[in-house]
Amino acid sequence: MRYHVTTFGCQMNEHDSERMRGMLDALGYQEAGTREDADLILFNTCSIRETADSRLVAHLGEAKRLKRENPERIVGVGGCWAQSLKDEVFERFPFVDVAFGPGQVNRLADFLLSDNLGAQGYFEFESFTGDLPAKRLRAVQGWLQVSVGCNCRCSYCIVPSTRGREVSRALADLVAQAHSMASDGVRELTLLGQNVNSYGRDLRPERATFAELLRQIDDVPGIERIRYTSPHPKDMREDVVRAHAELASLCEHIHLPLQSGSSRILRAMRRTYDRERYLDRVALIREHVPDVSLTTDIIVGFPGETESDFEQTLEVVDRVSYDGAFTFIFSPRRGTQAGELTDGLVPHEVKVARLERLVELVQRRARERAERFVGRTVEVLVEGASRTDPDRLRGRSRHNKVVNFTGLARPGDLAQVDITSATSQTLAGDERILTRAAAPA
Ligand code: 5AD
Ligand code: SF4
Repeated sequence: MRYHVTTFGCQMNEHDSERMRGMLDALGYQEAGTREDADLILFNTCSIRETADSRLVAHLGEAKRLKRENPERIVGVGGCWAQSLKDEVFERFPFVDVAFGPGQVNRLADFLLSDNLGAQGYFEFESFTGDLPAKRLRAVQGWLQVSVGCNCRCSYCIVPSTRGREVSRALADLVAQAHSMASDGVRELTLLGQNVNSYGRDLRPERATFAELLRQIDDVPGIERIRYTSPHPKDMREDVVRAHAELASLCEHIHLPLQSGSSRILRAMRRTYDRERYLDRVALIREHVPDVSLTTDIIVGFPGETESDFEQTLEVVDRVSYDGAFTFIFSPRRGTQAGELTDGLVPHEVKVARLERLVELVQRRARERAERFVGRTVEVLVEGASRTDPDRLRGRSRHNKVVNFTGLARPGDLAQVDITSATSQTLAGDERILTRAAAPA
């Protein structure tokens, strides 16, 4: 039996898909190169914005056709979209055989092993996908799921309803997993949680803190880089900020979602911080880690956002001077508080115009910020060939910049790269050894 998985959405979904693959391999399935070649067609879905939904529906059309060609084929949908439509999935998409939420990936195995392959849905929150076997896409980079779920109530966000209440994994289990991944060759670990830095508060009898987790993972031999995503500004405590300055493996990059620069809109979003508190966090971070890269998420066109609210967002972007930002147009989601709002809706053209202005500023600042790397030598974890030039290499710096460079390093190596130019998104340069070799004696 052969399977094919398509992944939508965030890094947590990429993580969950690696676990689906690991579990299917353990069941004796093999991975197929295309959907046509697969007996089991899986989609790991996302529902964060409307665009995510519509992309998926287009893909499902192909699965429907393939199922018609060969009714023996099994079509499965997992993840957030499946969870959010649990009551309607089979009605609206009758060719789907199995549907499961993000907390039920393990049940896919039960389904495949059961005698009854009639339509079945699994939507309880009951287990950590992180406990399942993994089939990693990259040899030296790995995910570590530190918690599932989210206790925040951001009024625009569907995630609390698709991933449930927050539950942390035991500290000792995570450290043990980090050790075992390191012995498998993993050099860079990305800690994952929907609200990663609130890790540990729910653990009993002994609570743990995110900073403590970072320290213990930093001690794991072989793990040379630690990243994490996504933190919440409200939980960005001084101990975590200090960890960036003190722990050798913790990278100089923090993704700190802003969402809006207007305190009024932040309140309507139920973000639990205001503009000043956010800027305080940024100041604290820059005080301890002056060279840090900061990136963010911003939503424009939230209901009630006026021109003056939006200008406050531009102002924060201008003041913080991010190294990069993901920018989104507000998209009303089913079952969310903001999705129900009917007052103050921002017309689509206004949203698009605001997004354009925001993107222009973000890119300008990101380009200026990236300039600071020109003339410096940065450590790059090599991922493979450059996407634009197969004769060059590509990897990421500790500051999370994509670096394209000439060199002799192999995937998985940590290369020293002399940076010669920068754009808003990427850096370019030459590997140190080459520069040295070329230099006159
Ligand atoms: N509309 C637009 N953007 C959203 N995000 C989350 N929900 C929505 C929504 N309903 C954005 C936030 C979040 C990122 C992952 O997606 O910026 O940080
Ligand atoms: Fe999409 Fe959010 Fe679910 Fe990730 S957690 S898959 S971004 S809806």
